[in-house]
Amino acid sequence: MLAIIGGTGLTQLANLEISHRQVMRTPYGEPSGAITFGRLRQHEVMFLARHGYGHTIPPHEVNYRANLWALQEQGAKRIVSVASVGCIRADLAPGDIVVPDQIIDYTYGRDFTYFEGRDRLVTHIDFTRPYDQKLRLQVLEAARRASEPCFDGGVYAATQGPRLETAAEINRLERDGADMVGMTGMPEAALAKELGLTYAAIAVVVNHAAGRGSSKDGVRMESINAVAQPAMARVRNILECVVECDGG
Ligand code: HPA
Repeated sequence: MLAIIGGTGLTQLANLEISHRQVMRTPYGEPSGAITFGRLRQHEVMFLARHGYGHTIPPHEVNYRANLWALQEQGAKRIVSVASVGCIRADLAPGDIVVPDQIIDYTYGRDFTYFEGRDRLVTHIDFTRPYDQKLRLQVLEAARRASEPCFDGGVYAATQGPRLETAAEINRLERDGADMVGMTGMPEAALAKELGLTYAAIAVVVNHAAGRGSSKDGVRMESINAVAQPAMARVRNILECVVECDGG
């Protein structure tokens, strides 16, 4: 079954016909909230709000391990994750939607692996391509069908938060090759890979990154909220087409 992880601005799916909610416990603790099960355009999906349904869990306190574990335990095989970002690359602007193809991880101090403890063999996942290419293409095709323009590819820089970046940090991220910056892309993508889940992301640009464009003198939360709302409505359209293409 396909699972959707919703980020800031996407704590529910408007057209989801909810069948039930499942509270879960995992060996890694509690997920961000109950998993919501339902039908979207006649297809079964599950949904989890990454920051909790009341949007109370900050990026560095999300229990990524419990979230992915719980989704897999409930039968998720494929995950489309939605996350808001600030844009760095010059051709991106607030309101744009990107399906990233690469990640640079700047996070620290998070529980970032299932492979720990001395009672198991050392395991290294291949992370050359952090997102599943087939699922990426499916999301892009869904966006085309939904007539929602979408950028194919981009480097997602995952920062620790919860504070936003300095202008100098954004310059550094750009020099590193990052196109966008967010706080939740890691360790989520790596953990999904460790569990063998098929995983892709939709990044929603909600602001210029610090020191750039409209954020030249600072990032304003009011404008983030104003951009996020209509952009997430477009993401919902794409997700409905993803679910349809997925065949349940
Ligand atoms: N920086 C980090 N995370 C973000 C941003 C940003 O500018 N916008 C949305 N999430």
